[in-house]
Amino acid sequence: MSLQDQIDKNKLPNHLAVIMDGNGRWAKQKGLFRNKGHEKGAKTVKAIVEACAEIDIPFLTLYAFSTENWNRPKLEIDLLMRLLVSSLKKELKTLQKNNIKLNVIGNIDSLPKKTIKELLDVIEKTKSNSRMTLTLALSYGSREEIIKTIKEISLKVKNNLISPENIDESVINSHLYTQNLPDVDLLIRTSGEQRISNFLLWQIAYAELYFTDILWPDYTKDNLFEAILNYQNRERRFGKTSDQLK
Ligand code: FPP
Repeated sequence: MSLQDQIDKNKLPNHLAVIMDGNGRWAKQKGLFRNKGHEKGAKTVKAIVEACAEIDIPFLTLYAFSTENWNRPKLEIDLLMRLLVSSLKKELKTLQKNNIKLNVIGNIDSLPKKTIKELLDVIEKTKSNSRMTLTLALSYGSREEIIKTIKEISLKVKNNLISPENIDESVINSHLYTQNLPDVDLLIRTSGEQRISNFLLWQIAYAELYFTDILWPDYTKDNLFEAILNYQNRERRFGKTSDQLK
C-alpha cells in the first residue's frame, strides 16, 4: 500500500504549517549559487501544495520570507522576490485547477510594489476557491505580529471600545494576521534545524512538531505523507490525560 493510501482521511491535520529550510545548503552541496536552491525550492512548493490539496488538507501555511530575511544580501532578496512573482504568475492556473485560495500573512506593505501587486492579483482571482487555503508568510515575524496586536488592542482600550477584563484568546486571535485561520495542528521544519525561528508562536501552542533532515529542495510528496502518518500516530491530549480522551 502506498504511503498516501495509508493516511487516515479522518485524522488529517486541519492546519499544516511548514518552515521550508535548506535551499542555500542544497545549492552549496552541489556547487551552485544559492538562487538555484530557491528555484528548486519553488518546485518543491508546487509539489507539496498539490499533495496537500490531493489529500484534502484545508489549511497550508508556508514560511516563505521572514522579517529577519531582510538582513540577507540585497541580491538574494531581489532574486527571491522575483522568484515569488514569477511563481505566482506561473502557478495561478495550478491554484485554479486545484480550487486553492491564496492568502498572505506578514507585513506586506514592506514588500516591493511589484510583489504586492502580483499577490493582490492572485488573491483576488482565487478568492472564491474553497478546497484549500494556501497562506504564504511573507515579511512575517511572530513577535512583530504580537506587537501589532497589542498596539491595536491598546488603542481600542484607550478609545473605550473594549475593556481590559474582556480581553481573551478570541480578542487576540481576531487581531493577528492569522485571524481567518485555525490553530496549527502540525508544524514541519526541513533541513535538520530544530527551532521555530519566530514563526506562528501563538498559533502553534498545541501543534505537533516534526523535524526532518531533508533539505527543502529535496523534499517530496512521500516525505510529506510520512510526516502526516507520524502525526496520526501521536496522541494529542491538549492537557488532558490519556484516559480522559477515551
Ligand atoms: C530557506 O532556505 C528558504 C527561504 C528563506 C525562502 C523560501 C523560498 C522558497 C522555497 C522559494 C520560493 C517560494 C515560493 C512561495 C514560490 P535558506 O536559504 O535559509 O537555506 P539555508 O539555511 O540552507 O541557507
